[in-house]
Amino acid sequence: MKKFWFTAVAALAVLAFVGTADAAGDAAAGAKKARSCAGCHGKKGEGKKKNPPLAGMEEATFVKAIDDYKSGAKKNKMMKKFAKKLNDGDIANLAAYYHALK
Ligand code: HEC
Repeated sequence: MKKFWFTAVAALAVLAFVGTADAAGDAAAGAKKARSCAGCHGKKGEGKKKNPPLAGMEEATFVKAIDDYKSGAKKNKMMKKFAKKLNDGDIANLAAYYHALK
């Protein structure tokens, strides 16, 4: 099931992002990274229960939120753990990916 989700998300990402070459991050690469986020934030970033939606989020807001979890300015144990695994490239790619989802 996990594999199916990933394939579906990756396929959607490729379809959605053809022609958005001006984005700073690489959304297709972001889609791959987003596998580990989908369990909580939903496979299309729609959010689930107490996990907020990420779809359509402004890229700058997204990057700031991740940076804040990393630094501890925003406190959430789960997100701190996940944010710490991401480098700047990953974050830009994820920001582009989630921004383009509706
Ligand atoms: C175990 C569940 C879980 C996982 C996995 C997870 N998150 Fe989260 N995420 C949360 C929760 C809960 C919040 C809300 C935390 C808070 O109150 O600040 C959140 C908040 C966020 C926010 C801030 C949203 C906003 O509107 O301010 C971003 C951005 C985010 N997550 C990105 C990610 C990314 C990217 C990944 C994968 C690398 C990920 N999350 C994985 C549970 C999760």
